[in-house]
Amino acid sequence: MIQNNLDDAVAQHPHELITYGGNGGVFSNWAQYRLTMQYLSEMNDQQTLVMYSGHPMGLFPSHKDAPRVVVTNGMMIPNYSKPDDWEKYNALGVTQFGQMTAGSYMYIGPQGIVHGTTITVLNAFRKINKNPKGHIFLTAGLGGMSGAQPKAGTIAGCITVCAEVNAKATQTRYAQGWVDEVIKTIEALVERVKKAKENEEVLSIAYQGNVIDVWEAFYEADIFVELGSDQTSLHNPWAGGYYPAGQSLEASNEMMRNAPEKFKKMVKQSLVRHAKIIKKHTDRGTYFFDYGNAFLLEASRAGADILQNNSEDFIYPSYVQDIMGPMCFDYGFGPFRWVCASGSKEDLAKTDAIACAVLEKIIADAPNKVQQQMQDNIQWIKGAQKNQLVVGSQARILYADAEGRMKIAAAFNKAIAAAQIGPIILGRDHHDVSGTDSPYRETSNIYDGSKFTADMAIQNVIGDSFRGATWVSIHNGGGVGWGEVINGGFGMVLDGSKEADRKLKSMLFWDVNNGIARRNWARNKGAVFAIKRAMENEPDLKVTLPNNVDDSLLDAI
Ligand SMILES: NC(=O)c1ccc[n+]([C@@H]2O[C@H](COP(=O)([O-])OP(=O)(O)OC[C@H]3O[C@@H](n4cnc5c(N)ncnc54)[C@H](O)[C@@H]3O)[C@@H](O)[C@H]2O)c1
Repeated sequence: MIQNNLDDAVAQHPHELITYGGNGGVFSNWAQYRLTMQYLSEMNDQQTLVMYSGHPMGLFPSHKDAPRVVVTNGMMIPNYSKPDDWEKYNALGVTQFGQMTAGSYMYIGPQGIVHGTTITVLNAFRKINKNPKGHIFLTAGLGGMSGAQPKAGTIAGCITVCAEVNAKATQTRYAQGWVDEVIKTIEALVERVKKAKENEEVLSIAYQGNVIDVWEAFYEADIFVELGSDQTSLHNPWAGGYYPAGQSLEASNEMMRNAPEKFKKMVKQSLVRHAKIIKKHTDRGTYFFDYGNAFLLEASRAGADILQNNSEDFIYPSYVQDIMGPMCFDYGFGPFRWVCASGSKEDLAKTDAIACAVLEKIIADAPNKVQQQMQDNIQWIKGAQKNQLVVGSQARILYADAEGRMKIAAAFNKAIAAAQIGPIILGRDHHDVSGTDSPYRETSNIYDGSKFTADMAIQNVIGDSFRGATWVSIHNGGGVGWGEVINGGFGMVLDGSKEADRKLKSMLFWDVNNGIARRNWARNKGAVFAIKRAMENEPDLKVTLPNNVDDSLLDAI
């Protein structure tokens, strides 16, 4: 899994040990890599390898059921967890930014994000009661993760317009076939989009330039944008994550180096202008959502007028508040994934078939509330081979709930025992039901005040570690930036054994229901429903349920 995260075909800057997101590292230097590989090659199943932010502290005696590896990345004393602290302590070599799946060895290339983005775009259109056909999704970024947007838009069936300032990033996505057309002038873009709307085409266009120019031009040309978002790298606004309007990429890069304070000022001005033109569109009826890249957070810090009267919430929802949270996470659906250790394509095809059969069995008795999610996932797994999304290891992502994850994993373990397939490594993105506490992203649909706590992510990793995970990891900062989030993940090897069957049931049940329990306690309706259902199926589960206060009583206080 480490080799996959650092493979030339998979990693963003493999020579710098960076997997994705500009600074998501597996290690900070090659000595750490070599030492880790040595430990892994000589360790036995009575030892645990301890990783401190890329540094292999060493092998410690443990026991067979313990995780073989425990990873922490970027854990800081809270008062020393500001972006500048990262610059300093990373430069000193004592900490690193592990992103989510970079520093936890669970990255599976762009497939993970394509699936999640497809689900988001599909459900966003459902949210506004519109069929994707002939309707526009306008966004920005064709980088590591953001590059999935046009592909996902096409799978969902809309017209995607994705602006990208970096010609190299645009060319990569075009060469991969992830975007249909590249357009370099605003006039040509406006004409092409009007035609696509008229003909109700399913089309993805990369605009080579700044996204602000597109928003402004579409407003002038009266092009109605149904869905709007942004996936520039605003978790990293001052060092190349966001390019201000009105100057070239090269000029910005130079300014970043030679006049960083001036560049910072320009980014802030641009963010204000960006938010202003989006507001003009939303006044016309566009549905805009924050895509977990800290756009709203940084725009508000820059002074854009996007805060509600309570000065805490934004006027636009995050994709988790409106879409992923209530439709997926509250019910336990999240980005479960597996990797075929054999590296064989045939094994992956067999696991796809096993997973599909399991889901088709489950959907027959599934309650109405989760039928749509189940259906979307069956459709995804049926089309997975055709969409050819594997880059690097033979891996598959599939949004599933606790029942789905446990039953699919148990079926894999059985197939391994019967020698039908080789061993399987289970995992997931940290961006999931229970893995991540992130007030402006994964936990943004938690409204009882607890979105600023990180107990869930910590509990998640501790709980996984003694229920059978092969490795666990806990990070500071993945996705939205250093100091803004705590996120945890795991890896679990299935070898066909009875122990693996016991462990997968125990750990996957906890790994999902921990988050549902917390979401239920925050009074999220879907989660209350899901945790009650989980308790019916598992008598040993006893979760504290909320007793809702009558609104009129509360209002009277
Ligand atoms: N919602 C999710 O599920 C999710 C998942 C992963 C990442 N993210 C977040 O999305 C962001 C993007 O991730 P990434 O891996 O693609 O990063 P990236 O840095 O590889 O890509 C961002 C791209 O945006 C382009 N860009 C910057 N400013 C621009 C502008 N004004 N106009 C047009 N293009 C511009 C950059 O040139 C770059 O190619 C990150 O903040 C990340 O944390 C969200």
